[in-house]
Amino acid sequence: MSLTDRWRIALDELRGQGRYRSLRLPAGHDFTSNDYLGYGSESRALAPRVPPEVETNHGEFAGLQARPTGLGHSRSECPTLSRSGLSSRLLRGHHAVWGEVETALADWHGAEAVLMLNSGFTANEGLISTIVEPGDWVATDELNHACIVEGLRVCRPRKFVFRHNDLNHLEEGLKAEAAKRPPGRELFIVTESLFSMDGDRAPLTAIVELAERYGANVIVDEAHSTGCYGPRGSGIVDELGMRSRVLATVHTGGKALGVCGAYVCGSNLLRDYLVNKCRHLIFTTALPPAIGAWWLEMLPRVQADDAARARLHANARTMHAILAERGLRVFGDSYIVPVVLGEDPQAVRVSRALSERGFDVRAIRPPSVPQGTARLRVSIHADHPPELVRELAEAVASCAMS
Ligand SMILES: Cc1ncc(COP(=O)(O)O)c(C=O)c1O
Repeated sequence: MSLTDRWRIALDELRGQGRYRSLRLPAGHDFTSNDYLGYGSESRALAPRVPPEVETNHGEFAGLQARPTGLGHSRSECPTLSRSGLSSRLLRGHHAVWGEVETALADWHGAEAVLMLNSGFTANEGLISTIVEPGDWVATDELNHACIVEGLRVCRPRKFVFRHNDLNHLEEGLKAEAAKRPPGRELFIVTESLFSMDGDRAPLTAIVELAERYGANVIVDEAHSTGCYGPRGSGIVDELGMRSRVLATVHTGGKALGVCGAYVCGSNLLRDYLVNKCRHLIFTTALPPAIGAWWLEMLPRVQADDAARARLHANARTMHAILAERGLRVFGDSYIVPVVLGEDPQAVRVSRALSERGFDVRAIRPPSVPQGTARLRVSIHADHPPELVRELAEAVASCAMS
């Protein structure tokens, strides 16, 4: 069978299962994207703040200050993108702006160091596959994101998939492994802090306590909590005061921060090791420096924006309260509101009915979620007017019940 035959057969199988996906242009009120604080939907052009030393050392920024970042502009209008030394950061892709960004981010978290990577997927996969070696043992929550699963596939450790947020199950695994742990082999626990499809939080304090009892290293993916929880929005690990007790956290800009790129936060040694070993940093083109300038603009804003965080959590509470009153099954209490409907066709039907009422809420089906738990994933934002959230909640309830 040729490679193209293999692809065609797989697509036909998905069609047969009603799981074939196609791209759909956005329409209706956005209850789908992860633009939790509403930054991403603003249409004004960004005028990046460019640090003076960057300007002095790198002439390419000079033209940028006078015009928007160039996102959405033609190549000729955007000198930064064409003159940024597009290559790996270990070659000419590095830029002074990233030093500023990484220092600012490390300060935000009160951590030693940060390393920027190109996306959250890359950061998780790169971190895990670089630091975990075959023979190490990794406990991973069954609902962890695909990029964590990919990272583990690449480095092939002994793996223990524990039931979602089940501390007893996790401890069973740790106890059995610690008893026979070969010398020189590491134990890791990997979890998200706020789960992307269930919207619930990991029991992080208890996980860290278990890790300390059994000598395991904790890695936390903060993709969905960055910007929205913790002191000045720096995430759940910082909210819980656990920074010094975890090995690393992973944060993406692509959700609440409204920017692209991602980073690993940890020790200087970890950063150094990744710079030397992480293929996802070494063998890929660095993000353009314009993106760094964008991070420098967004960071103070998100740090100061307690008001957006308050609106976000208030909207989430409204949504949860109405759905609970209407007897719908939802998990967690965050701005990711999963309305579990069971089988795929029911979720698709309700999503379509909502779309007809002007709401963009997507149906999430296996394999993104476990079989029999197809759902609507409602993504609440800070800039949703509260009456719109109430309207959506009532619409979800009436469509789901009909
Ligand atoms: C939990 C989690 N981790 C990581 C990622 C990847 O982040 P990025 O979109 O920046 O690649 C996602 C994105 O969907 C996610 O939900």
